Amino acid sequence: MRHFLTLLDITPEEARHILARATELKTMQKTGIPHRTLAGKTLAMIFDKASTRTRVSFETGMYQLGGHALFLHSGSTQLGRGEPIEDSARVISSMVDGVMIRTFAQENIQQFAKYSSVPVINGLTDLTHPCQILTDVFTYQEHRGDIAGKTVAWIGDGNNMAHSWINGAVSFGYKLNIACPEGYCPDEKMLAAAHALNAEIVLADNPLAAARNADLVTTDVWASMGQEDEQATREKAFAGFQVNADVMAEAKPDALFMHCLPAHRGEEVAAEVMDGPQSVVWDEAENRLHAQKALLEFLLK
Ligand code: CP
Ligand code: NVA
Repeated sequence: MRHFLTLLDITPEEARHILARATELKTMQKTGIPHRTLAGKTLAMIFDKASTRTRVSFETGMYQLGGHALFLHSGSTQLGRGEPIEDSARVISSMVDGVMIRTFAQENIQQFAKYSSVPVINGLTDLTHPCQILTDVFTYQEHRGDIAGKTVAWIGDGNNMAHSWINGAVSFGYKLNIACPEGYCPDEKMLAAAHALNAEIVLADNPLAAARNADLVTTDVWASMGQEDEQATREKAFAGFQVNADVMAEAKPDALFMHCLPAHRGEEVAAEVMDGPQSVVWDEAENRLHAQKALLEFLLK
């Protein structure tokens, strides 16, 4: 039994295999070929935070694979009333074939996984968002081919998505340039772990330097879920870290722009970039469905 709590829970070969399968599943879905490979299986989806893409993609994905998904808002379960994670994990996993969790602390999903008898998938924590990085690499490769050896620029907060891009540099072999305001850099332990695994990751002095000659420029909100009360402070700290036309002009002419969404136009990304010709954010959002269906097959079949 395997869990997917960070991207590094699967090998680079497994990740490549999952993305290849995602391409097949996407073609089958688009051409109306049935692919009920998880018929009779159930996925429980536990949400401690809001979601549009993650919920819709997992729920629809399970249906298309012939299975069923169960939406559990933690506030309306006994988890929300303090039933211990280990007890909940034992009980929920005794009835379903997989569990997807979106929560705050990474330790909470680790604890759940420890007591779960079925695979657990990280649907976002404060630390990482592994389903999104799998999808983002899938999307890049659909548009531009192999991402190995390419340069990715991360501009903005050293948050769960930045950490996922760091793990992705290990698994997929791209070079990663990171530009973050002082005090908002990625977790040093995650950076050190990626460096120890030979990832090529550079902390750049500023967004323009990070974007120079990049093949892909990406960013995320300045205040993540759970940080809403820091919005004003963060807006000040992140001034100058917007991905706008000047930043994109430093990247290669055929560079792509990605954002996991939801986006705040006028904050981390200028509308001209988000809605411009280099942006592939809508493909990226749709691809959550296809990449996660391949992941579900890999873990649940
Ligand atoms: N990108 C992403 O995970 O979106 P949701 O928060 O809408 O699920
Ligand atoms: N960093 C964002 C990602 C949302 C998909 C957050 O955690 O809110």
